Amino acid sequence: MNVFELDRTYVANTYSRFPINIVNGEGSLVWDDSGKEYIDLGTGIGVNIFGYSDKEWLAAVTDQLSRFQHTSNLYYSRPCAELAGLLCSRTGLKKAFFSNSGAEANETAIKAARKYAADRKGSDCYTILTLKNSFHGRTLTTLAATGQEVFHSYFQPLTPGFVHIEPTVSELRSALCENKVAAVMVEIIRGEGGVLPLPEDFVKELYRLSREQDFILIADEVQTGNGRTGSLYGYMNYGIQPDIVTTAKGIGGGLPIGVTLLGERVEDVFTPGLNGSTFGGNPVSCAGAINIVSRIDDSLLAGVRKKSEYIFSRLNELPSVKSVCGMGLMIGIESELDAKQAALSCLERGVLVLTAKNKIRLLPALNIPDGQLERAVDTLISVLKG
Ligand SMILES: Cc1ncc(COP(=O)(O)O)c(C=O)c1O
Repeated sequence: MNVFELDRTYVANTYSRFPINIVNGEGSLVWDDSGKEYIDLGTGIGVNIFGYSDKEWLAAVTDQLSRFQHTSNLYYSRPCAELAGLLCSRTGLKKAFFSNSGAEANETAIKAARKYAADRKGSDCYTILTLKNSFHGRTLTTLAATGQEVFHSYFQPLTPGFVHIEPTVSELRSALCENKVAAVMVEIIRGEGGVLPLPEDFVKELYRLSREQDFILIADEVQTGNGRTGSLYGYMNYGIQPDIVTTAKGIGGGLPIGVTLLGERVEDVFTPGLNGSTFGGNPVSCAGAINIVSRIDDSLLAGVRKKSEYIFSRLNELPSVKSVCGMGLMIGIESELDAKQAALSCLERGVLVLTAKNKIRLLPALNIPDGQLERAVDTLISVLKG
């Protein structure tokens, strides 16, 4: 059987894949099994933030791999502790819990917030407010957090205690009056929901109320984190300090890792036995992540913002484009074309893009060379012109 037949026969039918078989990658380029080259503006859904087979990351990972690949959380190991220290010093948060995915990072955030609220306000204070059109993961609890009904069918009952609101100050205030709220969890830019940045007045008021009313503010930075928006974390663009920040995807550079960063108010909620993960803090993933986070510096972030301006300015000129939204290198494009069809046309012309709702979504590598970006945008424009 060829790979398509093998996959369709034996892999669970949960993805509608594009009809190519990727066999190799380098930087922002990938090749399929026919030797066709593609410029990748999707990076494995925001994961390979320094592209494919990045040499520095590869060296960090293989060096650790040659020492030991895993040891469990029964013992100390340097990469896990060092990565925690690096993230805390870059964010001002106090402690890190490591898991394997964005959904797990969010599960931990929800547990930490509910424990904080139960300790201070009683066990009936457990409601978590999240946003309509949000996406927080595929476990039954993070699906409950996800504010899109389309993901809820077939899996009822989901974990109770979640209320979804629009990101407006008035909906926030009413929901806080009507519920005993332990936490509010937001994506700074709702990625899967259509690349929708949060309004500034909403974020500022949410932050102010979280201090005034003593509920936990959780920023889900699984997609927006790690340099993607032109700042190390998306919340930094708004001048606020969440109590909990979750991240995954890009921080691993291609290896699975989830991180829940706990701020001052929640740093001590967990005690031994209250949370855990067999693979969490895996030394190979952590060694790779140390390399990735260390390289997200001012000069890289300035490059992200410059590349972003270039993409925005070229796409905004097109009459067939209805809107371009997002921040940094997380960009959504609404056009007259069907997004899925446009993505397929881009693929045929050698450019890989993503979609989110009715938009084309771009999450290119943060270091994509300018020449390749220019070529990919030329192709995208030729598709959008029809
Ligand atoms: C904002 C956000 N949160 C959580 C998740 C879930 O992450 P994972 O697929 O690693 O569990 C995603 C995945 O797309 C995401 O975009």
